[in-house]
Amino acid sequence: MIDTADDARLDFLDARVVEVLERLEQEASTDSARLGEVGASLGRLGATPDAQALQAITTVAEQALLPVARPVGRLLYQLALATGARTIVEYGTSHGMSTLYLAAAAARTGARVIGTELSAAKAATATANLAAAGLAGNTRILVGDARETLRSLTDSIGLLLLDGWIPLHLPIFRIVEPILAPGAVIVSDNVSKHADKIGDFHRYLAARPDRYVRTALPIDDGIDLITRLR
Ligand SMILES: C[S@@+](CC[C@H](N)C(=O)[O-])C[C@H]1O[C@@H](n2cnc3c(N)ncnc32)[C@H](O)[C@@H]1O
Repeated sequence: MIDTADDARLDFLDARVVEVLERLEQEASTDSARLGEVGASLGRLGATPDAQALQAITTVAEQALLPVARPVGRLLYQLALATGARTIVEYGTSHGMSTLYLAAAAARTGARVIGTELSAAKAATATANLAAAGLAGNTRILVGDARETLRSLTDSIGLLLLDGWIPLHLPIFRIVEPILAPGAVIVSDNVSKHADKIGDFHRYLAARPDRYVRTALPIDDGIDLITRLR
């Protein structure tokens, strides 16, 4: 039996960061009431939604934070330190829970974190949360459809988190794929919970064994840990 008792500890973070994370966890406690509606919208989304369809699900989820669980946040923190990534990119920022873990690590390594969020209100909240945690300096949230905003990036990405609407994980991945550094690590969240919607991404990776290695980790709703080999 694996002992996971310590996986929810936050004592590696500064008190200001912990305070913001705990407040957001409290705010996210009402997400469960909206999960059914968000899940139904996800089922209708598809990999190539037009702007209207994307806006529709984002509106349904406007009041939901849908954050990463603590063990996922801890893993992101560790990976940001271990990879030494200079540029860390996130698809799906919401109120900035995952961003806080990444930015806390980036504050130690001197990296920068680029988040993406379609909802302008959520992006503003995330920015305020990062400032409250003392982590605004190394973080920027791109507001708008990540399928557009991520095209402006040119710096090589060392760590990528995919935590937006899951049918878009492959299209978003393909947009940033040309600037993924050799050795880059990609984390894709919610892959067990939405196993029926991630097959295209898995097939894409499996067809390129010389370029990507993927390991599924049974953490929270399932994580894919992917490494770019070259
Ligand atoms: C699961 S939540 C992200 C949670 C966040 N990573 C955290 O840990 O707090 C997914 C977010 O992705 C955003 N999103 C989905 N599709 C997007 C797109 N095409 N461009 C930008 N943001 C998008 C949604 O608005 C939503 O807030």
